[in-house]
Amino acid sequence: MQEIRLRVVIIGNSSVGKTSILNQLIDHSFNPNTNATVGANYQVLVSEVDGRRFEMQIWDTAGQEKFQALGPLYYRDSDAAVVVYDQTNRASFENAEKWVSAFKDTAGSLATIALVSNKADLIDQTEVSFDEGKSTADSKGYLFFQTSALDGNG
Ligand code: GTP
Ligand code: MG
Repeated sequence: MQEIRLRVVIIGNSSVGKTSILNQLIDHSFNPNTNATVGANYQVLVSEVDGRRFEMQIWDTAGQEKFQALGPLYYRDSDAAVVVYDQTNRASFENAEKWVSAFKDTAGSLATIALVSNKADLIDQTEVSFDEGKSTADSKGYLFFQTSALDGNG
């Protein structure tokens, strides 16, 4: 079987839910009281699609300002970035493009970008609508997903 290895980084402001998304993806669990990530950690996700085996090394990076200088270490040789914002926090959405450009500076402009609107379960507190996120992603050629790390939707 054909084997494809991919390297993916999850980036975005602190507390948007990057670690929570990866935990939900790998363990199907949610922790309401996570600690801020220090440096970065990775998990491996293996899946088979159309007779090909994909092995994805998924890096969960730290969003806190004090870790920002480390970014390029993790971005190098990445095939894709998952750029997460918290849809209940407009500032995190407005910062998403800064994360994309820092990523592209190191990984190059051919890497895939997926924009992710997380915390979709907090409907009452939403500051950035699905349509606004989706049209921003469409205009820049990014994939777009709305997710909840709490309930696993998306
Ligand atoms: P850094 O590691 O500092 O960059 O933050 P992070 O992006 O990894 O955020 P983290 O996953 O630690 O989540 C921050 C807080 O948001 C935690 O209290 C999570 O439980 C909560 N949280 C994350 N995703 C969701 C979600 O989809 N819905 C809700 N309601 N809370 C979420
Ligand atoms: Mg984290």
